[in-house]
Formats: sequence, C-alpha cells, structure tokens
Amino acid sequence: MNRLCEILGINYPIIQGGMGNISSSILAAAVSEAGGLGTIGAGTMSMEEVEGLIVQTKERTKKPFSLNIALTVSSCAPELLKLAVKYNLSVVTLSAGNPSPYIPLLKEAGIKVIAVTASVKQAKKAEEAGADILAAEGYEAAGINSNLETTTMALIPQITSAVKVPVAAAGGVADGRGLAAVLALGACGAQMGTRFIATKEAPFHESYKQRILDASDHDTMIVGRSFGRIRRLMVSPYAEQLMRAENQGVTHEEFSDMTSEDHHKTGALEGNVQKGFMNGGQISGLISDIPSVAELLDRMITEAREQLLKAQFLI
Ligand SMILES: Cc1cc2nc3c(=O)[nH]c(=O)nc-3n(C[C@H](O)[C@H](O)[C@H](O)COP(=O)(O)O)c2cc1C
Repeated sequence: MNRLCEILGINYPIIQGGMGNISSSILAAAVSEAGGLGTIGAGTMSMEEVEGLIVQTKERTKKPFSLNIALTVSSCAPELLKLAVKYNLSVVTLSAGNPSPYIPLLKEAGIKVIAVTASVKQAKKAEEAGADILAAEGYEAAGINSNLETTTMALIPQITSAVKVPVAAAGGVADGRGLAAVLALGACGAQMGTRFIATKEAPFHESYKQRILDASDHDTMIVGRSFGRIRRLMVSPYAEQLMRAENQGVTHEEFSDMTSEDHHKTGALEGNVQKGFMNGGQISGLISDIPSVAELLDRMITEAREQLLKAQFLI
C-alpha cells in the first residue's frame, strides 16, 4: 500500500495543488471523487469566501480534500486554521512560509498536514515539526516558487533521502511517465497544478486552457527575481509587461499590486492577457488535450505502471 494514499485516505497518489484565489470547489471535488486529493486554496480570500468554498466542496464530495493556506500570502492564517478545525477537514496544506508554528493545532484536531517545501533544510524542519507529508516543489512549477530555484529532478531524491515521511513531488509532472519518474526518485506520489488547468472540470477561461494546449517547451517565464519573490507564468503580453516594469525599477509595492490575486483572476478567469496573468509550469508544452479529471487520473496510473515495468528492462 502506498503510504501517502494510506495517510490521506485516497486511492491514487495524485494531489491537485492549491490555486490561490481561482481555487474551485468543482475541480477539487472532481479530483477527490476520481480518487486523488483535491485542494481548495485560501489565497488572499476573506474568511467568508473561504468558508463558502469549504461548504461548497463538502456539498460536492464526501471524500477527503485539502485546504491550502499560503502562509505569507494570506493575511489571516491563524483564523483559517480554526476554520479547518471547525469544518473538521481531513487535510490542510501549508505553503509559502514556515509551517512549524501552525502544525500542532492541526495535529491536535486530527488533521493531516502537508507542508510544501523546496529544500532539504525546510523539509527536515517540517518533518520535525510534525508534518505528515511533504510536497517537494521544484521550480518547474506554476505560480510562486522558491527563490532557491532547485529543479524537481534534483530536489526529490535529496529530500526523500533526508526524511522518513512520504513525499509528493510537485513541479513538472503531467502524465504517467512523470509520475513513474518521481516514484523512481523516491517520492510516493505527485502534486500537479498545470495539468489540472486543462481538464473538463476546471472552471477557468477557455483561453487559459488553450494557452496551455498551444504552449511549446519555452512558453513560461519567471518574474519577480529582483524582489526575491519569483513566480512562473505563461508567456503573455501581461507577463512581459511585468518583466519590463521590473527591469525599469518599479517598487516592490507596485510590483506586488501588479501581481495581486485580482490580476490572477483577470488572466485565468476572464482570459484577459493584457491586464492579467496566467500561472503555468514548464510542463505546459507536453499537455495537448482536455480530458475529464477521472480520465486523466486513470490514464496516468495505467501509464505509470506500464512505464515502471518497461523501465526495468532498460538496465
Ligand atoms: C493557477 C495556479 C495557482 C497556484 N496557486 C498556488 C497557491 O496558492 N498555493 C500553493 O501552494 N501553490 C500554488 N500553485 C502551485 C500548485 O499547487 C502546484 O504545486 C504546482 O502547480 C505543481 O507544479 P506544476 O504546475 O508543474 O504541475 C498554483 C498553481 C497553479 C497552476
């Protein structure tokens, strides 16, 4: 039995990662219903909005799902933890900050904790603090990334050698071959973001899905390096505008406004690439269809099994 599945109470070792303010109960519930772990993210939403999202997701699925709290992004992390306890959630994912102070309260309430990490040091600290699972994220991934910029390929074996808790590899996985690869590196599963954008259930703008389908292997870019806050976006007029503004010396505050969750929603939900951005990972270039979530998960598991069997004859 896969330890990650056992801890989370799911069938397939595939996690849909948090998606800030575009998080959707429809997508998260579809992933959980299909046997993976869906996640709704709090982003910068108000408590009322997050509460609404939790209620909607609970109405759509009785299976486990996670609430992602991005610690340095959300202004109300302690209150969100209390909300997770109040609604008796089974899993909380802590990202973008030090999870240690927040883990005890969740553990006392019997909530499983996934900590998103991007270095061996962070991974060991999160394990010591009691995290049940680590999502180790390489900088191939969509959205806000670690400034350390370590790739999934290099990060996963180093983290899985350093900790005992199960690790889900995030960043650059979009098919069964990617899943097989991270299992071979010692992970117990994968966390994906970009691949789930191009699914039938994802309620995002058609042009966001199409942008991913049309992407080549060079169609994402990193912005925010000069502010120590990097994020990976699909190349677009707005992303290029962000890059120009950064090069021309906008202040950190101005840049934060330009990369706010409002601009995220404008890009991802309205498909407006002049005024908003679309998060996207390097693996976009591999994605060429829009399956249902259940089709995607079934296909990935079959392909990963085949790939692992095939690989043994290669050495
Ligand atoms: C639209 C979008 C929004 C994201 N927002 C968040 C977030 O709020 N919190 C977080 O921890 N990760 C966030 N991520 C990262 C994903 O949860 C996931 O770890 C990542 O996408 C995995 O890499 P991949 O894009 O190569 O699959 C986001 C990803 C996407 C695509």
